[in-house]
Amino acid sequence: MGYSIKLPAPRKDLTFPLMQALAERRSKRKWSDKPLSEQDISNLLWAACGITKPETKQSKSKRTAPSACNSQEIKIYVARQDGLFLFAEKEHQLVQILTKDIRANSGTQKMMHSAPLGLIYVTDYSRMTSIFFRNNYQRWFISGVDAGFISQNVYLYCAAAKLNTVVLGLVNREKLHKVMGLKEPEKIVMTQVVGSSLPG
Ligand SMILES: Cc1cc2nc3c(=O)[nH]c(=O)nc-3n(C[C@H](O)[C@H](O)[C@H](O)COP(=O)(O)O)c2cc1C
Repeated sequence: MGYSIKLPAPRKDLTFPLMQALAERRSKRKWSDKPLSEQDISNLLWAACGITKPETKQSKSKRTAPSACNSQEIKIYVARQDGLFLFAEKEHQLVQILTKDIRANSGTQKMMHSAPLGLIYVTDYSRMTSIFFRNNYQRWFISGVDAGFISQNVYLYCAAAKLNTVVLGLVNREKLHKVMGLKEPEKIVMTQVVGSSLPG
């Protein structure tokens, strides 16, 4: 592993009414210049697909988000001004992949380019080893479903933490795949940008 940023422990003691978070969940496409704190990023990534039950000799770990056959095939890459990172959920840290700012590739719409955080949901077909995944159509379909759960977790956390977010299907996947230097079994499913809400 290269350079990595150990995130502060997620604040699992935070409380916010679930029904209110559901009522306030919204796609928001504007953000202030205020950067997200490492604590916000830690909480957000844990909410997205952090570990809720560590692995044991008998069984694999569990995440906040479900995944078909517990494949955990969705990886979150995090694009920030200081580079591209992979969220290593087991260690709860960000592993640096690139030192350049690739956020402008998070979405094709211009207003997405200024978002402080770009979450890139990447499926890794090499993790989909169950016999139920018979072909790439099934792998792609399941990856879309599983990324959706993660995205909704991020939406709900953002509603509770008063952050602005929107999930994006309008992504130039081919270009972003190249820019990120992804391997062949990795495919970009969608992205989600996050920023601080505007004052007032
Ligand atoms: C799979 C998916 C892809 C989306 N892609 C985009 C996108 O590329 N750009 C965008 O501005 N919004 C995108 N959205 C957000 C939708 O426009 C938004 O969810 C919808 O208008 C309903 O608004 P709400 O999320 O506030 O309820 C996407 C939503 C989903 C579920």
